[in-house]
Amino acid sequence: MVDLKTTWLGLPLKGPIILGASPLTHDVEAVAAAVAAGASAVVMYSLFEEQVVHEQMAAHRFIDSRADGDAEASGFLPDVDVFSLGAEPYLRQLARLRERIQVPVIASLNGVSPGGWTDYARACEARGADAIELNLYDVVTDPEQSPKQVEDRQLAVVEMVALAVEVPVTVKIGPFYTSVPSFVKRLATAGADGVTLFNRFYQPDVDLDSLGVDRRLQLSTSRELPLRLHTLAALSSQTSLSLACTGGVHTGRDAAKALLCGADVLQVTSAVLEHGPAYIGTMVDQLRAWLKETGYVSSDEARGVLAMSSAPEAHVWARLNYIRLLDSHRVPTTRTE
Ligand SMILES: Cc1cc2nc3c(=O)[nH]c(=O)nc-3n(C[C@H](O)[C@H](O)[C@H](O)COP(=O)(O)O)c2cc1C
Repeated sequence: MVDLKTTWLGLPLKGPIILGASPLTHDVEAVAAAVAAGASAVVMYSLFEEQVVHEQMAAHRFIDSRADGDAEASGFLPDVDVFSLGAEPYLRQLARLRERIQVPVIASLNGVSPGGWTDYARACEARGADAIELNLYDVVTDPEQSPKQVEDRQLAVVEMVALAVEVPVTVKIGPFYTSVPSFVKRLATAGADGVTLFNRFYQPDVDLDSLGVDRRLQLSTSRELPLRLHTLAALSSQTSLSLACTGGVHTGRDAAKALLCGADVLQVTSAVLEHGPAYIGTMVDQLRAWLKETGYVSSDEARGVLAMSSAPEAHVWARLNYIRLLDSHRVPTTRTE
């Protein structure tokens, strides 16, 4: 039997396939079904910065309105628990999952401004989160913000959250940095324990009929995986951070590819939304079968076999592959009479 045991963020897991953040985690029984099928950890849907800001503003408005109305009011105002206005439902769901689910549950905080993340990260830890995934989903449109300012702001958030909690923190990032390896190095310095690659950029389309924006969400396909594979292969020999792959893992063979490139865990979202929680079991079986057929006795043995460290000059290797790829495309010859 192939041994799938894995360690991610210092957490011992029974295998590398885990449930990625999605609305499925609103449903405790669906999560339990995914875990029964073989998911070895669960990332919850996110608590968004916008929810938190909304709740903090509501708390301020509440206090201001009471204080304005009665000069002595501030003296006997009830101690307002801001969590009851927005984050509390999230924390309650976290506690429910923690109670029902036997594998690590990872809370997800989603935002890019320092805000009140320290409190929320601590609150997630207190309700039993085994780790925090901090999602830095950032769309920069202001030309006055330099790349360094953007990165510094993001890293300040990471530092703040990592300092606030004892549990490990993984940072979910998008692919659009001038140098992902440099940013990942800075994440490690900021105190992150892992990095999750990559956020999908939800690209709204233009609706030509309504002259509006088409915001329909498309689930991923396996075609999104190679972008992750390339970066995993580059990073896995350079960083001590735990590596999670998210985006385009739809089959056990996709999982095997990410493992070979150095991922510690493979997060699965679209495939589970498409096929249901039990599909995780199919993926685990496919991964195990592939490892066995290929002669690996464990997933650890396969991990990182295709890391770029095996290439003498990774940058030159990447350029050569790029040139070879362009050169391999054959244009059909145009027949002239
Ligand atoms: C409907 C839906 C909701 C999602 N919600 C979240 C979320 O709350 N937080 C988060 O970090 N990622 C969220 N994601 C992103 C997924 O966790 C994942 O990174 C992305 O879908 C790529 O993985 P996949 O190819 O397996 O779908 C969501 C994805 C989908 C499809």
